[in-house]
Amino acid sequence: MRMVDLIAKKRDGLPLTKDELRYIVQGYVRGDIPDYQMAALAMAIYYQGMSAEETAQLTLAMVESGEQVDLSDIGQFTVDKHSSGGVGDKTTLIVGPLVAACGLPVAKMSGRGLGHTGGTIDKLSAIPGFRVELSQEDFLRQVKQVGIAVIAQSANLVPADKKLYALRDVTATVDSIPLIASSIMSKKIASGAKGIVLDVKYGSGAFMTSVAKAEELAKTMVAIGQNLNRKTVAVLSNMDQPLGNAVGNSLEVLEAIDTLQGNGPPDLQEVCLELAGWMLLLGQKANSLQEAKNLLTSTLTNGQAWEKFLEFVAAQGGEKQVLIEKDLTLAPIRVEFKASRAGYVHRINARQVGISAMLLGAGRETKESPIDYGAGIYLHVKCGDYVQANQPLATLYTSKEEQIEPSLQLLAEAFVIENHPISSPPLISRVVSTV
Ligand code: URA
Repeated sequence: MRMVDLIAKKRDGLPLTKDELRYIVQGYVRGDIPDYQMAALAMAIYYQGMSAEETAQLTLAMVESGEQVDLSDIGQFTVDKHSSGGVGDKTTLIVGPLVAACGLPVAKMSGRGLGHTGGTIDKLSAIPGFRVELSQEDFLRQVKQVGIAVIAQSANLVPADKKLYALRDVTATVDSIPLIASSIMSKKIASGAKGIVLDVKYGSGAFMTSVAKAEELAKTMVAIGQNLNRKTVAVLSNMDQPLGNAVGNSLEVLEAIDTLQGNGPPDLQEVCLELAGWMLLLGQKANSLQEAKNLLTSTLTNGQAWEKFLEFVAAQGGEKQVLIEKDLTLAPIRVEFKASRAGYVHRINARQVGISAMLLGAGRETKESPIDYGAGIYLHVKCGDYVQANQPLATLYTSKEEQIEPSLQLLAEAFVIENHPISSPPLISRVVSTV
């Protein structure tokens, strides 16, 4: 087999076989296939696309490029959840303990944030003492004893994706549905769960800005799951404005606590119940989505989800007293962003809010940038609300005086206030499922 022939085959729109895709992925990871040939292939895939079978075989070849987690020791069907990224998305902090409290084990590997989007591992790291690295044995032991463990993704998980993603990033080939779908699904499949619930976001703060593109990505990922014997469901959810009110790591942990105590913002609670509901359904802890949501709602109101969160945090070394007292450190400089006029809030551009929070110190511009867990933005209003001129719309938290002006500037662009009322857009558009 020669890589040049395979590039030509894909360039001409012909499908690559399972063996050819294996040859490509293995050769690339070993260093036998150089970056320039892989870049040419990525561009050919970008233009020609891939069939469902090809996308599944590419995913499998990527899974096999590294370590695969074996969760069979847990002795129960496990269900993972993945979000395609966004602003203010703290759903894993809530959904994880919530479903664990309903008897469904959660063995989860998560990532860090980059750019305008946050990451679960950064949010958990905002809890003093919390350890995001556990050995494989400790990880599985904790899932069996506590019902939930969440750790940082191991460096050996899908090395092919790390190398290919870095290449796509500099060759304008990130934005290809089969490449995105295989990248995301390879990590989920290598993490070992038999059921996968995907939260595919669309809107200004999401990877996919249009609902049509998000649906195409969702269908492609669900087809990969179906091909590789994973029960898979994708929920399409709106990320045009930030989810909930808090953006920034410690602020988001505080909002997750409120939600786990049954007092969360309605949009955040709705997305959490939908995702957790599908997880319970895949894990056969309920017979219908409605039955699952009823069980989850009572688990939130009777305190069991909150208790499970405390148990989980303590098991990973986190100081649970800090959570009980809601005593997380927030950045010292507080500035209010005020409404320039009266009217109805029509838009709070999630991407601009995310970038503004990043400038304040809450996120990373590059993979190496340090994070200030106490920095961020708290929104006092959401789309559809009526506001008076000069009313505080958001509070900024930072330690970087010099970033206040640029952040306020971005927020001024992010908020659109008009005279006429507007109803909130639907939060969950549709569900794509193999079950
Ligand atoms: N997230 C991933 O993990 N991979 C992609 O290709 C895009 C987003």
